[in-house]
Amino acid sequence: MRVFRVMFVCLGNICRSPLGHGVFAHHVAQAGLQDQIFVESSGTGAWHVGEQADARMRSVAASHGVPIDHRAQKFASSDFEQYDLILAMDSQNRRDILSLCPHPSLAAKVKMFRDFDPQGPGDVPDPWYGGPEGFEMVWDIVERTASHLLQHISQELQS
Ligand code: 4NP
Repeated sequence: MRVFRVMFVCLGNICRSPLGHGVFAHHVAQAGLQDQIFVESSGTGAWHVGEQADARMRSVAASHGVPIDHRAQKFASSDFEQYDLILAMDSQNRRDILSLCPHPSLAAKVKMFRDFDPQGPGDVPDPWYGGPEGFEMVWDIVERTASHLLQHISQELQS
């Protein structure tokens, strides 16, 4: 059976990408597709490697019924070979990911997460330095985008 592999990437892998990872994996499981879609997340920076996701992000996710249990890891050049789709949470993440691309033919695997947002493309704003409303905003973006992303990947799996 073909398995589609998707990697969410932000800067620290403790706020935006573990939320994308957790919420999307939740949608995948609800659709019964956990054997066909493999979900991971990582960061372009190494400062938080090994840490659990930020407590503020985990708390927002848990309040919406999605537990997050992930240890931060750094995005690696070899992930270009390992994953079918690499989703950048913002445009700086996208540039940093592409700077690690081992071959131009693999660059098309990188897309912006919000390319799948029904409310339009753009960055998922980094909530790290701001107040609680930033974390809720990240939740809203991720939640409304996850189902559209699942539709896209389901179509890819059928093609
Ligand atoms: P994330 O948020 O990229 O969504 O995980 C950040 C987490 C930590 C830092 C920056 C952004 N930091 O500078 O340590």
